[in-house]
Amino acid sequence: MATVTAGIIQSSIGRKYLMALSGLFLCTFLIVHMLGNLALFKDDGGQAFNEYTYFMTHNPLIKIIAYVNYAFILLHIFYSLTLTIYNRKARPESYALVNQSKSATWSSRNMGILGSVILIFLIVHMRTFWFEMKFGTMPTIQYDGNDMVLKDMYSVVAEAFSQVWYVALYVVSMFAIAFHLYHGFQSGFQTLGINHHKYTPIIKNIGMILFAVIIPALFAAMPLYFLILNL
Ligand code: HEM
Repeated sequence: MATVTAGIIQSSIGRKYLMALSGLFLCTFLIVHMLGNLALFKDDGGQAFNEYTYFMTHNPLIKIIAYVNYAFILLHIFYSLTLTIYNRKARPESYALVNQSKSATWSSRNMGILGSVILIFLIVHMRTFWFEMKFGTMPTIQYDGNDMVLKDMYSVVAEAFSQVWYVALYVVSMFAIAFHLYHGFQSGFQTLGINHHKYTPIIKNIGMILFAVIIPALFAAMPLYFLILNL
């Protein structure tokens, strides 16, 4: 069994499969993360957002999902690198030809560059928010009608998004996410072989609108909102 699993992971098809699985899992994470972060738009001094981040960092089930999420992020990055190296070695010339064909979209030809921009974004993002939440000395706050003293993540977010360069990095990165997911979502579906003549095109189209337009636009609106508040 172990050798079969190792074989799947090491084969090119297995690697593609794991890329698709991890990528689609990360897509579902993005929906939840975006929906939770919408609390930033509430004009309540950050109460809803701070209560949401408290829940996300203390609920045992969410904690387990968070570790699966970290594992999938690392796996997705690792396999994207090994797949690129494998493809270059396996067919250096035909790979270039295939990629320049008319059928390949700009996104599909630039998945590596788009992924690298997202990786840089993620490192900065995790350092500013996730690392501060886990290991930093965060400001705290207590709201009326709530006995708990909460970590004031809202003020950390507001502070970060008061800087123009930081907001610019987020907005540019959301374009990279939009193009990455424009190709990635449908490609993941194809790799997993989920194919129904009627429903698959509908799911792909809805997925593309959601992941390439709605989600990146709402994420980009968050830093822009704080920047406008500060004018
Ligand atoms: C622009 C809007 C965004 C805001 C305001 C935001 C805010 C935050 C905050 C406050 C945290 C730490 C607390 C928590 O876990 O809830 C966090 C964690 C995280 N964010 Fe974001 N985020 C944004 C966009 C994104 C995007 C676009 C991605 C992915 C491409 C992302 C990926 C992550 C990951 C992977 C974590 C760690 C989650 C965990 O520990 O379970 N975030 N974010």
